[in-house]
Amino acid sequence: MENNRGSFGSNLGFILAAVGSAVGLGNIWGFPYKMGLNGGFAFLLIYLVLAIFVGLAVMIGELAIGRKTGMSPVAAYRKLSKKFTWMGYMAVIVPFLILCFYFVLGGMVMRYALSYLTAIFGWDTWGVPVTEFFGTFICNGASVVIWTAIFIALNAFIVAAGVAGGIEKFCKIGMPALFVMLLAVIIYVAVQPGAMDGYKFMFGWNIEPLKTDFLGVLKAAAGQMFFSLSLGMGAMITYGSYLQKKESVQKNAVIIIVCDTLVAIMAGMIVMPACAAFLNGEYGGGPGLLFASMQQVFFNMGYVGNIIGFLFYGLVFIAAISSSMSLLEVITSFKVDQNIEAGKAPGRKKYAIIAAVIIFVFCLPVALDALGTGVENGAPIAYPAELFGIEVKGWNDCWLDFYDMLSEGIMMPLGAMVMAFMIGWIWKIDMVVEECELSGHKFWGKTFFDICYKIITPIGMAFVLYAQIMTFFG
Ligand code: TRP
Repeated sequence: MENNRGSFGSNLGFILAAVGSAVGLGNIWGFPYKMGLNGGFAFLLIYLVLAIFVGLAVMIGELAIGRKTGMSPVAAYRKLSKKFTWMGYMAVIVPFLILCFYFVLGGMVMRYALSYLTAIFGWDTWGVPVTEFFGTFICNGASVVIWTAIFIALNAFIVAAGVAGGIEKFCKIGMPALFVMLLAVIIYVAVQPGAMDGYKFMFGWNIEPLKTDFLGVLKAAAGQMFFSLSLGMGAMITYGSYLQKKESVQKNAVIIIVCDTLVAIMAGMIVMPACAAFLNGEYGGGPGLLFASMQQVFFNMGYVGNIIGFLFYGLVFIAAISSSMSLLEVITSFKVDQNIEAGKAPGRKKYAIIAAVIIFVFCLPVALDALGTGVENGAPIAYPAELFGIEVKGWNDCWLDFYDMLSEGIMMPLGAMVMAFMIGWIWKIDMVVEECELSGHKFWGKTFFDICYKIITPIGMAFVLYAQIMTFFG
């Protein structure tokens, strides 16, 4: 009895940590805007199919590898096969690329939360009419850079001081609060006139977009799935190394995926109907959608909107910082582990700060191109296509999309493809089955997962990478 309670308590800790890192801007910011750009229902459908047929197998594989080796990605892959140490290195490069835009968004969310806070007390810090704020703000390079820097400094402080545990405890309250908040806003948006079209866009059977641009939707949904579930970069390998041997790997994988997907769909159920009701059904707003459409919603609420807006962006901020600090932690601990291995001082503080400063420099293009507004429209600097005078495509229409394409577009599908291929054909699924059955739970769906590792994931990801390459040359 006592043992059971103990294991429940600690496993809850594992789940909260894993879900806390998975639930972030990917769910609340990325999912709705990508769904808006990629045909609504068609995107949702492909996303769910991928989560079940690719995400689940990859999640189980990463958790099992992590628990089996008890190590972080570089060491784990090296232990499994010397030839695959480079897979471990991707687990350092990908978080780096993600943070190059994640930090900028985090800073913007913080700016929003604080302005809503002051507005509650009647102090207007928007500077312009609220509904025009977004466009003005992103074109104000100095302002975006400063908020980015503040957000980075906060992250660096948390990681350098090693107080991440405190934030995680905070998330135990923050995450359920976010859930309730999302629910409340869903209900508010639902009763607005015109909201219905948003649900139709999201849930109404319409696979026309798949006929016109299947590869485009596939590529967007796959990238989003890996990003949101923190897969294909080794993060879950690290989490797996903390999973107790008596716990079921498969059950935990399902829980993480279900929670993460639920939050993403809830965010979609806010933003899509909000676009229908307040933005004339304009769903394709891109990366600025969370800011522009949600601000409309809160504006329409009148004074109460200030309170709800503060709570909403405040909770998004918590979700964002719990993810961004674990991304920065991955980069910092890579260096710290190396030092310890070499018998040197760990230097945690030093490397957290160095990493933060380097990432800040790479954040600058993202903070300064006004999300691809274009110099002639008032952006401080040019977006990639503008700068190099090339045809505008999805990956070069703003610096954010450029980093995004490298990380979730190429490296995460590549990482998942290689890992699945290795499990399916070289290490064999029995390695995963053995590790999963250590807990005394029978491994379910062996044939299904075997097909996932051997065929579905490698071939599916080959399509994704093909689609990605075609956008460069096609
Ligand atoms: N999943 C996170 C989000 O949706 C972002 C993320 C990707 C992440 N990979 C990660 C977070 C690794 C922590 C660790 O926002």
